[in-house]
Amino acid sequence: MKILVTGAAGFIGSRIARALLAQGHEVSAIDSFNGYYDESIKRRNVEELIGKGLRLTDKSINEVSLPPLLDGVEAVFHQAGQPGVRPSWGASFEGYIDNNVAATQLLLEALKGSRTLKKFIYASSSSVYGDAETMPTPENVTPNPRSPYGVTKLAAEHLCNVYAKNFDIPSISLRYFTVYGPGQRPDMAFTRFCKAAVNGNTISVYGNGEQTRDFTYVDDVVKANLRALVADYTPGDVVNIAGGTHASVNDVLDILRSLTSRDLSVDYSDVALGDVRCTSGDTRRAQAVLGWKPAVDLKEGLAQQLSWADEVFS
Ligand code: UGA
Repeated sequence: MKILVTGAAGFIGSRIARALLAQGHEVSAIDSFNGYYDESIKRRNVEELIGKGLRLTDKSINEVSLPPLLDGVEAVFHQAGQPGVRPSWGASFEGYIDNNVAATQLLLEALKGSRTLKKFIYASSSSVYGDAETMPTPENVTPNPRSPYGVTKLAAEHLCNVYAKNFDIPSISLRYFTVYGPGQRPDMAFTRFCKAAVNGNTISVYGNGEQTRDFTYVDDVVKANLRALVADYTPGDVVNIAGGTHASVNDVLDILRSLTSRDLSVDYSDVALGDVRCTSGDTRRAQAVLGWKPAVDLKEGLAQQLSWADEVFS
């Protein structure tokens, strides 16, 4: 198939693009290489893929002429976006509007009337739920984000739904729950913890570390996307992609201690604004719609990330 991956230089986008190339698809990509984190990490993510045939447009969705990029495209994996829950307050919110809301609307608008498009797979987020009352949380609870980031991810989901209903855009929103694994973004907890652990530095925890997350291994997320490419979902559908882990940050630190056989120096500070207390995704719908369930457990996945961090950071 002829496929476009947006945000293909990012942590998840690059791994989806790699899997699609391995399946023999014709894959093009767009990434703005924005400066949220070190651009060289993103360049390294795509280098190998370009060698395997990935055609990369090095621009923002908001600046490029979209029709040539979308011509004949049969599936779009929309992974581009401004990530980060905690930095989404204040002046930086503009970037969240531009990259999460406006960029999604521009793509959907440009795809209206496409005669080739069969799938539009949007990378949504567990942050749309906020502090949900039901755990594990099914997709039909009323979303109630707690961060400006979550508000923009939810707005883009609504756009996918509106364009599905009015223009038959075959969209599905996959709500990713805290994705981790080798290559994870440098601002996220596991990369920070593993980097500090391999270098013997102090780990910084926001709050008392009792917040829990449904951590999801990146290969499982890639598999969910590949399932969405062939699944018979209803346009406008929404599905949780959650790892089934339900561990607290302190539990994660205990696993790290056992994996490294070291005591870790940990510094606890204030709860970060926008952080939720607990996430837990009900994956029955993912199983029914995509035939997907997570396969990698937390200890195994964290061991993979730690050994990657040992190579990259020590
Ligand atoms: C992650 C991603 O960053 C979002 O882009 C994504 O949309 C979101 O998951 C999601 O599931 O919707 P988050 O859960 O905050 O957000 O992921 P981490 O950065 O890995 O943080 C996990 C927990 O560790 C949070 O409670 C955070 O406050 C804590 N943390 C993080 C620390 O205690 N110390 C750190 O140095 C970093």
